[in-house]
Amino acid sequence: MSADKYYTLAEGCPFASSSTAVLMRNRQGGGLGLLQDTQLIETLAHFSRERIPERVVHAKAIGAYGEFEAIGDCSDITSASFLKKDGKKTPVLLRVSTVGPESGSADTSRDVHGWGMKMYTDEGNLDWVFNNTPVFFIRDPIKFPSMNRSHKRHPKSHLPDANMFWDFHVGNPEGIHQLLVLFSDRGTPQSVRFLNSYSGHTYKFTKEDGSFKYIKIHMKTCQGVKNFTQEEATKIAGEDPDYMIRDMFEAIEREEYPSWNVFVQVMDPSEAENYKWNIFDMTKVWPHTDFPLRKIGKMTLNRNPGNYFADIEQAAFSPSNMVPGFSASADPVLQARLFAYPDAARYRLGVNYQQIPTNAAKAPVYCPFQRDGKMRMDGNYGGDPNYVNSSLQPTKFYQEIKGGSPQSLSLHTEHEQWVGEVTTFTSHITDDDFVQPAALWEVIGREPGHQDRVIANLAGSISGVKSSKLRHEVYTLFSHVNQDLGTKVMKATEAAIKH
Ligand code: HEM
Repeated sequence: MSADKYYTLAEGCPFASSSTAVLMRNRQGGGLGLLQDTQLIETLAHFSRERIPERVVHAKAIGAYGEFEAIGDCSDITSASFLKKDGKKTPVLLRVSTVGPESGSADTSRDVHGWGMKMYTDEGNLDWVFNNTPVFFIRDPIKFPSMNRSHKRHPKSHLPDANMFWDFHVGNPEGIHQLLVLFSDRGTPQSVRFLNSYSGHTYKFTKEDGSFKYIKIHMKTCQGVKNFTQEEATKIAGEDPDYMIRDMFEAIEREEYPSWNVFVQVMDPSEAENYKWNIFDMTKVWPHTDFPLRKIGKMTLNRNPGNYFADIEQAAFSPSNMVPGFSASADPVLQARLFAYPDAARYRLGVNYQQIPTNAAKAPVYCPFQRDGKMRMDGNYGGDPNYVNSSLQPTKFYQEIKGGSPQSLSLHTEHEQWVGEVTTFTSHITDDDFVQPAALWEVIGREPGHQDRVIANLAGSISGVKSSKLRHEVYTLFSHVNQDLGTKVMKATEAAIKH
């Protein structure tokens, strides 16, 4: 039997032949295309439309499926269902990415690595959209697009540009803590398997009585943290730009399943009021001596995606996907992100992106107030009322929901009251902004050779800055962290330029 017997057009009609066009031929062997050649037209038209917009940040990635297992009893701090019982398992999707470079770029480049994790809990999807760094470059959300553009390509040369990168950071020095992490060994992790991930932001664990705790989440690799040196990362970027994808894909194929222990730092709201650090400023961490880690679970990856585009490219993660027992804090950057991600998903995937199988909740969904729209895939709730407070009874779509009515879910709001004034964001840089980076510089110093590597990594980047004035502003920035650091970075950079 010819292989063509297996194939049809997308409409189900058999192919005349899957590998030839239908043409009006002449004797010389030429041929005119015919509009009636549906299979040629459909084949070409679909090919031109295969690409969807790349994520504007975090385009290059790897993903896999797995499970989260709750460990211990968290009922004192949250009513979240996925943490309710020791040993309870929740299916997970993880996507780990670099931030600035495009989808085809080398994944060992020095960059922050993003961590998009979707937990398909029995009370809806909870997304943890984290980074492998516990701090961030900015604390005023309006700076996010500017910051990312300065890390990407120059608008004229279309080249990554050290002048833009350092000009942005000199002008916005609150990112100094994150810069130090980025230019440390942690900026070039050996693989997804060997990196930690952090919420960075403060979130809240909430309970049914309306009380809450502030939390920060830490996911620590069970494989141990391992990093490349700059030289190794650069060499591998040339030899195998997809090194990190290959590493994790092949490990999972070999059934060497990577896992992470999940911890929270827990702070009572009363402690937050007088804490020495602003807990809504993601350029700061909470020292573990003040708020120790408490283990709440373990996440293991155990299945590669069946299809990258369907499972990973079409995945849409958002910090706004939260379940009862878990909620956002008043960190202004987090608040802005609650809008930015679903907005990006609507642009990238369309208004019904929640119906794409990789995004679809495994919990019952009854949301008849979101109707119609492009690419509606389900029954669109038939004739159920599409307005609130209807006296009409919903029909079969409602009854099909397993596990009771939506009202039975543990919905609640926290007892938080706000008094404030409408004002612009004020973010003055103070000496306090350099305290934690200075402490990090000391920690880096405990590991033999690490400070020297940070200096060399910084010099490698800053030496791309053409203006001597800007370079000296960068040295001044690092001198505020530690005078010796600033001086050494200056010497190493200027020596690199002279050669
Ligand atoms: C104002 C601040 C921020 C804004 C406006 C922002 C916006 C975005 C946007 C538009 C995307 C692409 C989403 C998509 O196309 O599906 C994205 C991806 C991502 N962001 Fe952010 N972001 C911000 C800060 C952060 C922070 C602080 C973190 C980590 C703590 C983070 C982690 C990620 C990750 C991991 C992804 C990739 C998600 C995936 O795998 O699809 N972002 N961000």
